[in-house]
Amino acid sequence: MKVLAIINQKGGVGKTTSCANLGAALALQGHQVLLVDLDPQAHLSISFDRMPEPDEPSVYTMLTGEHGFEDVMQPTGTDGLWIAPTNLDLTGAESELANEIGREGLLRTALQKLARSEQAPDLVILDCPPSLGTLSLNALVASDFVVIPLQAEFFALQGMAQLLDVLERVKQRLNPSIELAGVLVGLFSQQRNLSREVVQELTHHFGDLVFPIQVRVNVRLAEAPSHGQTIFEYAPDSSAADQFRELASELATRMELTQDPAAKAAPETQAPTPAPATAPPMQEHEAE
Ligand SMILES: Nc1ncnc2c1ncn2[C@@H]1O[C@H](COP(=O)(O)OP(=O)(O)OP(=O)(O)O)[C@@H](O)[C@H]1O
Ligand SMILES: [Mg+2]
Repeated sequence: MKVLAIINQKGGVGKTTSCANLGAALALQGHQVLLVDLDPQAHLSISFDRMPEPDEPSVYTMLTGEHGFEDVMQPTGTDGLWIAPTNLDLTGAESELANEIGREGLLRTALQKLARSEQAPDLVILDCPPSLGTLSLNALVASDFVVIPLQAEFFALQGMAQLLDVLERVKQRLNPSIELAGVLVGLFSQQRNLSREVVQELTHHFGDLVFPIQVRVNVRLAEAPSHGQTIFEYAPDSSAADQFRELASELATRMELTQDPAAKAAPETQAPTPAPATAPPMQEHEAE
């Protein structure tokens, strides 16, 4: 079981959108994926229409020790894709956990227990809040990999030095095996020269760590959550769906996820490999 944190303390850069759609793409490619909503705004939970009632098991009650992942995780409308949802109770977690000894390791402990259980997925993806507090620290301590999404705009790199510094300190003191899997441009505007300049600057700083595929601004991505759907349910033929499929494949390679999870699911059958389910890419107008 591998754990990936999608993190950037900057708000509105595409963390939740990437989490939902990369997770869905990887599930559709045959992986068992669990999404964990670590953001008290609960956007990920709301976008899957899974926000728990205050007294129901949630990421909050999991962090406070009342429940384990097995109580909290729920299936979504996509086969192989699960969510551990949260509700607004998580808002109190930062202050409530402030005096807890070992508070930064609570999520890691719960995930280690999940990894030993029958429900263990192949991959856990953590949707972090737009801050670098206890919740984000829990994510970094529990993760094998980190993806930093950002928007291709003038202030894209602002705050990045601080984030990289936190990542480095976590690596040195708490989680030596954590690794940056990539920097993802999650909101790229094709019409703007500035977007291209920002990608060039990012490539200058991060080299090959910048994913070669950008997610372009596409209104379908903003609409899908309001229908409780991923892009693959809402607009499977859109260019946004194609971009997330390609990104997911690249991410699976970078994280060395099992190459052929479908074979793992049905090892005894020797059925001929069907043609890929993806339709040939269609020309499509970006709905910006
Ligand atoms: N490629 C895209 N095209 C169009 N809209 C997008 C795209 N990516 C994200 N959005 C929209 O932009 C807004 C911010 O995205 P998202 O919620 O994924 O960012 P976030 O980093 O998780 O934000 P927060 O920091 O508040 O958690 C949302 O309304 C989302 O639907
Ligand atoms: Mg978010």
